[in-house]
Amino acid sequence: MLKMHSFRLTTASALGVLYARLATAAVPDPPAPEPIEVVELPLPPVTTGSCTPDINPRGTGCITQGIYGEGFQSGSFLPDGNHIVAYVTFTGAPEAPDPASIYNGSQIILIKTDNTSFPNGDPWKCITCGVPAGNSPGKSDTWDYPHAFQDGKRLLIGTNIVDCGEFLLTDSDCTPERTFVYPIRWNVTPDGSGAGGAIRELRLHPDNVHLGFSSFVIVDGTVGQFSYFSRLQFNPAPTTGEPLVPRYDLVNVTMLFSPNNTPPLTIDGDEIIIHPLPNQVGELRGFSGRGGEVTYIGYPTESCNIDLYAVELATGSVRRLTAHPEYVDPADVSPDDQWTVVMDTRGTNRQMFMAGMRGVPPLIDMIATTVASSIRNNHQRRFFEPYLIDRYGDRGDYSGQKISEAGSGVAGSGAINDPEWNGRADPRWSPDGTKIAYWQDLTASPACGGVNPLPCYKSTAQGGRFVRFMLATLTSRKPYTLPSVEPVSDVVPWGTPYVPGDPAPTLPRIPQGTYTLSGATSGSAEVTITENADDTSIKSVAVQYNDYSDDGINFINGYENYTRSNPSPSLEVADWYSDLVRTGETHSTKKTSPDGFHPSVDLFVNIFEANGTLTTTVDDDVYLQPLNYS
Ligand SMILES: *[C@@H]1O[C@H](CO)[C@@H](O)[C@H](O)[C@H]1NC(C)=O
Ligand SMILES: *[C@@H]1O[C@H](CO)[C@@H](O)[C@H](O)[C@H]1NC(C)=O
Ligand SMILES: *[C@@H]1O[C@H](CO)[C@@H](O)[C@H](O)[C@H]1NC(C)=O
Ligand SMILES: *[C@@H]1O[C@H](CO)[C@@H](O)[C@H](O)[C@H]1NC(C)=O
Ligand SMILES: *[C@@H]1O[C@H](CO)[C@@H](O)[C@H](O)[C@H]1NC(C)=O
Repeated sequence: MLKMHSFRLTTASALGVLYARLATAAVPDPPAPEPIEVVELPLPPVTTGSCTPDINPRGTGCITQGIYGEGFQSGSFLPDGNHIVAYVTFTGAPEAPDPASIYNGSQIILIKTDNTSFPNGDPWKCITCGVPAGNSPGKSDTWDYPHAFQDGKRLLIGTNIVDCGEFLLTDSDCTPERTFVYPIRWNVTPDGSGAGGAIRELRLHPDNVHLGFSSFVIVDGTVGQFSYFSRLQFNPAPTTGEPLVPRYDLVNVTMLFSPNNTPPLTIDGDEIIIHPLPNQVGELRGFSGRGGEVTYIGYPTESCNIDLYAVELATGSVRRLTAHPEYVDPADVSPDDQWTVVMDTRGTNRQMFMAGMRGVPPLIDMIATTVASSIRNNHQRRFFEPYLIDRYGDRGDYSGQKISEAGSGVAGSGAINDPEWNGRADPRWSPDGTKIAYWQDLTASPACGGVNPLPCYKSTAQGGRFVRFMLATLTSRKPYTLPSVEPVSDVVPWGTPYVPGDPAPTLPRIPQGTYTLSGATSGSAEVTITENADDTSIKSVAVQYNDYSDDGINFINGYENYTRSNPSPSLEVADWYSDLVRTGETHSTKKTSPDGFHPSVDLFVNIFEANGTLTTTVDDDVYLQPLNYS
């Protein structure tokens, strides 16, 4: 049950909403909840030893238990809507020349979603098992985010493209001998030599000729990331650069950032100005269904509230897709652009202790987003569940519909809504808009058990599996058939064309000083920014609120200050002091213990550990931080 007190409408704000609606006249009433049926998709049988004929009589392999979800990921639908593509890990194969020896290690399979089988009787087919080494000379070892091309013949997997030539992947004629794996290379040297740049989180554009990706940079001792838009170009015989094998080159690469774009915050004399909806792409999450927009995690609109945004490729215009104070990340926009499915911590209260007070301007967020976004996980455990949200996003009492809702809700029961099964990236829409595939993993030690305050639960899945792939059907919806997406322009006018060898830019930042942020309707906040010793980054942000109001209904008073240090580039330690009160629609407080709140988090490990407390109250609800290590 979601608690959305801060959205509860008073008469005054109901009128405000009414006037806003008359003004924009575009936002419809939220949709009513709809019927959703969820089933588990079939997977090869599990073994913890050898894959014997007892376990798989057809000799088509056995998989690992997939603890931590490692070696598994469900991906997109095939264009026929009757299969998904998935990454799995086989184990226990007999030695060659046994034909079953090919069912070994990291592989990509297709899984039937319509309860039918491939000709051999299996509801799944391995695509990469047994592909001769000569067909995949330069393949990289990443297998994540498997995604089918519209031709039904190719797959994006990790930083590779699998290609079955003239054959549909589902076809019996698509054999290992006819399957090729080509690496994807991003050239980062002026002369085209050497290895490609490190690319991650690849997402195929629905026009199937463009690719979005992200890449880490380390600037001023902290980890940062930029996202890029590019064109995939097959290069059958490259003459330079590694690997020197048939490959896909990324050409017409554009960084989805420009120093010419207005950043989230600017100054004018001693005034600080917040620009809502800046087109500054944080981590790229994908594309809209028709391909007009890039989805991404952006600079927060409200303090410590991580949301999903969409920016139009052609214009740079930005929409906010989610507004709930909890953390959102993996997402997929429906093929007709009318719906979004997200993986979100909403409903778990994981983040409410820092984000539950609404309408706090994103000031400490100049330096607090790493911590605010890293607390969402505990080790490998996500606290995500899939939610269905309409195009117009969270509003009023509407905060989407939980997809994994059926069942008793009992931890360890294995029900659809067992809270120990955690949503993972990415949920995916079927091409006809009636189904959503998603996957989950079961909390495992050290995210539970031992010194951890949370107990571990035994898996009730086949073979004690720690992963499960799910299929949600929106049973009241009519399937649609959409025309294929026309190729979009290579040019992103609000981005920066990437020239190989260019260093990553530094994000603009507000210089050290004391500034005033005026409330949109009344009051103000005094903001003191202090740089680190060598003036290369912001060390602390201290804010004093005086009857600050952006809407004339809600008022913030008190102070909040946040100081960060980075003992290593990915390790962030904060000294956080808050004593905020917000009056108006709700009475909310955000308060640290007298000695302050001191979290430390490594963004590649995500173990929550803190001294002191930070607590948010919203009317009668008290939101506490997670227990250490949990
Ligand atoms: C297949 O059919 C069986 C029996 O009707 C049902 O229990 C199961 O959930 C179905 N599986 C899928 C993936 O639809
Ligand atoms: C399976 O793969 C592992 C490592 O990738 C290798 O050591 C092992 O020999 C393989 N088994 C078979 C049967 O090919
Ligand atoms: C895209 O890249 C190709 C190959 O590098 C080049 O010929 C073409 O001019 C580029 N297009 C644009 C719009 O920059
Ligand atoms: C933050 O607040 C604490 C507690 O009031 C205070 O000790 C500290 O000096 C403040 N830091 C800054 C940078 O203002
Ligand atoms: C908490 O305090 C203890 C004792 O001073 C210290 O060892 C530890 O590093 C602190 N942890 C954090 C996250 O600040």
